[in-house]
Amino acid sequence: MMVTLILVILTLLLAFITLQKQKRTEINFPPGPYPWPLIGNQYYLKKLSRKLGGQQYAFLEICKRYSSGIISLRLGGNNIIVVSDHMLIHEVLSNENYDGRPWNEFIKLRNLGLKKGITMNDGAEWKELRNWTMRNLRKVGFARQEMGELLADELTVILEKLKESNVHTIKFVIAPAVINVLWNLLAGQQICNNTKLQHFIEILECRAKAFDMSGGILASFPWIRYIMPNASGYNILISLNNELKHLLMTTINEHKQHYVEGAEKDFIDLFLREMKAHETTKTDVSIFTDDNLFITLVDFFIAGTTNTTSTLDFLFLHMTKHQDVQDILHKEIDKVIGTERFPNLEDRPKMPFTEALLTECQRMWVVTPIIGPRRVLADTTLGGYTMPKNSIVLMNIFANNMNPELYPDPTSFKPERFMKDGDYQSDANLITFGKGKRRCPGEALAKSAIFLLFVGVMQKYRLLPISCEESVKLVLNSGLTISPKPYKVLLVPR
Ligand code: HEM
Repeated sequence: MMVTLILVILTLLLAFITLQKQKRTEINFPPGPYPWPLIGNQYYLKKLSRKLGGQQYAFLEICKRYSSGIISLRLGGNNIIVVSDHMLIHEVLSNENYDGRPWNEFIKLRNLGLKKGITMNDGAEWKELRNWTMRNLRKVGFARQEMGELLADELTVILEKLKESNVHTIKFVIAPAVINVLWNLLAGQQICNNTKLQHFIEILECRAKAFDMSGGILASFPWIRYIMPNASGYNILISLNNELKHLLMTTINEHKQHYVEGAEKDFIDLFLREMKAHETTKTDVSIFTDDNLFITLVDFFIAGTTNTTSTLDFLFLHMTKHQDVQDILHKEIDKVIGTERFPNLEDRPKMPFTEALLTECQRMWVVTPIIGPRRVLADTTLGGYTMPKNSIVLMNIFANNMNPELYPDPTSFKPERFMKDGDYQSDANLITFGKGKRRCPGEALAKSAIFLLFVGVMQKYRLLPISCEESVKLVLNSGLTISPKPYKVLLVPR
């Protein structure tokens, strides 16, 4: 009896596997590992990512196994297509058919149940809200002189804190800078006191480690939250959501209480003005709702808190490791800026080596190695394969930036690859802030902060490993984004 039962189960399993394989071939789906019933490729991907040190490496390994720059995986009941071929990545980024966003359990929790705001919204509402947001952020100083001045204030605070000791984990000192500047433009104030901000930064770092771009185990098995609320990352998301909601709703309500028409000072005020204008006309369905304001602030808070700090953290680590590069950088800083005044954004075009160094570090360690997730908006083809509507696409931009055909000897840190005849040479193949309609709207702030805070610290200090014998080691934290594990450096005043 038992033997018959086992035989029946095995036959059914075999029939299921054959059918699945046939189905994938019929719809001309990209190759990939066989998706097991229920678990799909979740376990396989997690194991491989852990073994190789990150999803970006795991995706590259699967590409190698299937000799294809585009592969498919089954994660959480969804067909996920991962693109690592550089031509195909550029094709996806420039085709609006790929501009949708999926709506899985992880994203629902990330967005507090509301398909609103910018990052996880799509369609006409996303387009209108994103365009309006970018226009109006500029009105309150984004990507203008005011932003440079706010960054200079942050640099002053950073340099004061660095004076307190000659050994530092620089990341902790610079972490509040970008979010403080952003919040000044959005809400006209500091986001919260430093202790609270540090707490938010810690939760966001835990969140980045607990998830990946496919949404991790919570997107695959939403019920897992009831069995493993801690290990699945569910509790991290809930505690972030509760605290963020309290903070942002208090800020929005204070703005509503003190709002004076015609005296708008910040982004929230400008949004409230539109809300009021649409309340009175009531002519069309408006994007100016409480939910859109709230989730747009959530989007900016999440994107604005850690990405730029992690980029700077990689840069300081590389300066400590590569003393010869640090020497050339110091020479250029001394020649263009000198030792007395602060750097400003007009210095940037006069500093080709610094620009090349910043580009090279972001090429090797783009903090968002996997971008997306994108939802395919209409049936289409990519690299000869069928992309059915609603399938989900991820892009491995780490693979693009480490492609040896584009960047020979890709694992070596060589700023000179972006220099020609003493000038900085930009490169259209490189991807750091994305491309196309979903390109990073925070690019201007991130780039200005990276330049001013990096050059501002390097102007005043030489960075050295703490012990002469040991070089500082780069150990990666991998997840939604990447960052170096905290490290200490010796700061010697120049
Ligand atoms: C070094 C720092 C940063 C990097 C490397 C980075 C990278 C990116 C990339 C690659 C995307 C595109 C994702 C896609 O194509 O699906 C993106 C989107 C986004 N970024 Fe950034 N970012 C950085 C800093 C910032 C900052 C400071 C802000 C806030 C001011 C920000 C706000 C956003 C938002 C809201 C989106 C979503 C845009 C949309 O879906 O329409 N980012 N970022």
